Amino acid sequence: MEQIDSLSFAPDFERALKFFQAQENYEASPLRELSSPDGLTVLAKDETGRMGLGAFKALGAPYAVARILQQAWEQKTGEIPTLERLKDADIRAFAATHTFVCASAGNHGMGVAAGARAMGAKARIHLAKTVPESFAERLRGLGAEVVRSGDVYDVSVAAAIADADESGAVLLADGTWEGYTEIPKWVMEGYCVIAEEMRAVFEASGTWPTHVYLQAGVGGLAAAMAYMIRRNWAEQPELIVVEPEAAACLKTSHLAGAATRADGPDSNMGRLDCKEPSVVAWHALEKAQVSYQTLTEEEGEAAAEAVSALGLETTPSGAAGYGALCKGAPHDQGTAFRPLVIISEGAA
Ligand SMILES: Cc1ncc(COP(=O)(O)O)c(C=O)c1O
Repeated sequence: MEQIDSLSFAPDFERALKFFQAQENYEASPLRELSSPDGLTVLAKDETGRMGLGAFKALGAPYAVARILQQAWEQKTGEIPTLERLKDADIRAFAATHTFVCASAGNHGMGVAAGARAMGAKARIHLAKTVPESFAERLRGLGAEVVRSGDVYDVSVAAAIADADESGAVLLADGTWEGYTEIPKWVMEGYCVIAEEMRAVFEASGTWPTHVYLQAGVGGLAAAMAYMIRRNWAEQPELIVVEPEAAACLKTSHLAGAATRADGPDSNMGRLDCKEPSVVAWHALEKAQVSYQTLTEEEGEAAAEAVSALGLETTPSGAAGYGALCKGAPHDQGTAFRPLVIISEGAA
């Protein structure tokens, strides 16, 4: 029973929304309309400028940092600190004694670094050698320490876990595994804000998308969106989870009926190149009745070029949902087909 609870995802998304609405640099990201080559109008949630960090991940780790510090302060003093109190000198001095550690394919690390800096804490980010140096530079620019750990993402994850164990730093991962779920659920709770912003727009217009394409790495974004859509949207779309062929861990888990690793070559959809699924995300996706689609490397590249040519500069990871749409659009549905994609990062 305990195991089922720790794997279930029941976010307090209103708390996340209140947190961000209190931040000076928060505003709802734009919902744009792109036209696909075959004349379709595609709704595109544009995360390329999110809170100055260039990706939706700005909504995950910064919120988790605040929640961790609130919880730690309460444990230490008995006081439940309000968002306002987090700005006070005594709590900032307490935050300064904390270091947040994670592995990252790029954007999660940016969120951890930005969140730690905002609260007055420190961050140390482990990057595999496949992560572009531009991320390392941006991370250092946010005051984080960067450690190059291993050839591939999995090795950097293991390095971050070992680092936290040895140093006493707080591990702030975006993936979950048995025995480690609470903090990444807060990261996912932050992502829920994206779906809530979209719900408000569709509620006002009365027109809802029919198909939502959700690209996935460990599955945190896709699961948060799927949970919120199934729970709160008045009209229910089909949900399609999109992964690189080279790292289809969620699809593989679905077919196996259990969280399962999926090995493959390195993918140029770097932020989606996760071979191990988040167990919490996978369970949430199974409950949300999603389907799965994979993209080849060429399809990922072509999607990035197509979306960038439409004026939204992005990468294969950012455009993967659009790539899946181009690959598998149900052409016979005419105007009844209103697809939505998330452009999850800009071209850094
Ligand atoms: C730009 C971008 N898109 C999609 C994802 C996938 O998110 P998740 O790992 O939560 O599935 C990531 C993860 O790092 C990302 O950075």
